Formats: sequence, C-alpha cells, structure tokens
Amino acid sequence: MQICFTHDLCCAAGRAELLCACVVEFRINKMRTLIKVLLASVCVAYIAVRWTAPSFNAESLRGARVLVTGASSGIGEQMAYHYSRFGAQIVITARREKVLQQVVEKCLSLGAQKAVYVAADMVDEAQPEKVVDFALEKLGGLDYLVLNHIGSTTFSMWDGDVEHMRWLMKPNFFSYVQMAWRALSALEQSKGAVVVVSSVSGKMANPFTAPYTSTKFALNGFFGVLRHELFMKKSNVSVSICTLGLIDTETALSKIRGVLDATAYPATEAALNIIITGATRQPELFYPWFTYVINLFKDWSPSLTEHLVRSAYKYDPESL
Ligand SMILES: NC(=O)c1ccc[n+]([C@@H]2O[C@H](COP(=O)([O-])OP(=O)(O)OC[C@H]3O[C@@H](n4cnc5c(N)ncnc54)[C@H](OP(=O)(O)O)[C@@H]3O)[C@@H](O)[C@H]2O)c1
Repeated sequence: MQICFTHDLCCAAGRAELLCACVVEFRINKMRTLIKVLLASVCVAYIAVRWTAPSFNAESLRGARVLVTGASSGIGEQMAYHYSRFGAQIVITARREKVLQQVVEKCLSLGAQKAVYVAADMVDEAQPEKVVDFALEKLGGLDYLVLNHIGSTTFSMWDGDVEHMRWLMKPNFFSYVQMAWRALSALEQSKGAVVVVSSVSGKMANPFTAPYTSTKFALNGFFGVLRHELFMKKSNVSVSICTLGLIDTETALSKIRGVLDATAYPATEAALNIIITGATRQPELFYPWFTYVINLFKDWSPSLTEHLVRSAYKYDPESL
C-alpha cells in the first residue's frame, strides 16, 4: 500500500513537472514569436518610412537662404560646410568671432554663393531677434532657419542648481522660440522651413543631463505644438525636429569620457542628415537610425530600457 501510494505521488509529481515544462516552453515560444513579430514590424515600419520619404534634390539648395546657429564648431560647423557645397547663401552665428571668420572663409572656398557671420550670445535676450533681422537683411529673406546652438552645461549628477537650469533655458530654449517667431513671416513668404536640432535626451531621460534634458524636452514640446498649429492654419512653413544620438563632436566626447560607454557617430553625417530632413520637409529625423527603435522600445518596456541606459554608465557611489 505504502509502495503504491509513493508510486502514485511520483506519477503525480512527474505529470506536474511535465505540465510545468510544457507551460514554460509554451511561454518561451510565445515570447519568441512576439519578439519576432515586433522586430518584423519595426523593420517593415522603417522600410515603409524610408520608401515613402520624399527624395532629396541637392539642386534645391543652390542659392537657398540659410541661417545656421551654433556654427562655429561641431555639427553646426559641418552643416555650414554642407550648405556651402550645395551652393547656398548662408549666415552663421555663435559667440566666437575669430572662429566664425575662419568658418566663413572655408564656406566661401567650398562654394557658398554668400557667407557672412554675426557674433551673438544667445543668453542675451535681445540677440535672437537681432540675429534673425541681420540674416533677413543680408539675404533678403530666409528659406531655412536651422536652430542648433547650445549653452555650456556639465555632465554630472543633478546638484540642485536651479539657477543654472534657469540660465540654460535662455540659450537652449527661449532663444529658439524667439528666433522661430521672428523668422516666421519671412519663412511664410518663401515656403520655408524651421529645423530644430534636438536629441534623444529630448525624448527620454538619461542620467547626468538634467538641465540639458529639460531644455530638449521643452524644445520638442514647443516645436511639436508649433507644427500642429502651423498645419491647422494651413501655413506653408515646415517644422523638422531632429533627434540625434551620440555624435563625435569635441564637446560631447570630452564630457562623456570615462563615464559613458557608447559609440559616437560622425558629425558630418549627422549634419548632412539634418539638412536633408529640412530640405525634404520631413517632420522628424532620427540619427543614427536605431535612436528610432530606442524611442519605440522605451514606451514598450520602460523598466528594461531604464536598466540598459543606467548600465552604460560607470558610476560607483562608494568611490565618492
Ligand atoms: N554632440 C552630440 O553628441 C549631440 C547629441 C545629441 C544632440 N546634439 C545637439 O546637436 C547640437 C550641436 O551640438 P554640438 O555637439 O555640435 O555642440 P558644440 O560643438 O558644442 O557646438 C555648440 C555651438 O553653440 C555655440 N554656442 C555655445 N554657447 C552659445 C551661446 N551662449 N550663444 C550662442 N551660441 C553659443 C558654440 O559656439 P561659441 O562657443 O562660439 O558660441 C558652438 O558653435 C546641439 O543642439 C546639441 O544638443 C548633439
């Protein structure tokens, strides 16, 4: 009897184990299928977006009247050179006059129909409008307003410096709003475009960038609303928001060195993609391409995304 009872128990336990194994396998298979479907959907969506995207005609930029901000270095400087190669007329701005002078000389040697600079500090509230007025006067109108500059900020844990946050909002956000508003009627006349250089940090939170991230979220919010409203008013001005991942500019690389492990993508390629996005009047750019996938993934699986983001940082609170 005892033997028989044990035997029954063993059989029951074996059946339960088998059932468990079946359930686990079923779940794994379901998960695999789900991941496959998800990856396939992302691929199809990406191909569809690429396929239906309007094609870029470089000739459309010959003689185009362009204002690029933050053009003394990094991505802005590279944009100035690309526009010049396409034969545009360009006004560039930043604070360092000597550097701007050199960039203008190179622009002219690369084929710009016109290249002039205006030195301005976008922290000064009077400057954004003055710079737009200067460009309108020099170019006799405007086809592209490319907003790209950023004020200097640290790459470190939030330390409660609200004053710095308030200060950073001036160059990174308020000056963009002021310039876009000032240029709007000229852009209406030319069926022009506002191009806003933003960041993945404008779509999702990354550690050590609280002031910067706040300004980029503000930009995405404001220009997203502006795009809606211009469309509703049947305006012919397009608004492009460019979401960039890590780009190999000196400023970015010097900040993350030793703290963040990530591949940086070339500034010259980022610059060309921004220009094409503006010229083809697309509402969004994601560069490099996987920033689009990250953006989708973060809403689908927020905890996993946050875990992956944090694990890219070298931070040890014990060592402080
Ligand atoms: N590099 C990246 O990894 C990365 C990633 C995502 C998004 N982005 C975005 O790409 C854009 C360009 O970044 P970047 O890496 O090329 O930066 P960058 O090399 O540091 O260039 C910033 C530009 O802004 C100008 N600037 C700084 N403070 C200013 C002020 N108060 N008033 C007017 N101009 C000022 C600088 O020139 P002066 O010093 O002469 O004024 C410079 O021309 C930014 O919008 C940034 O958020 C960059």
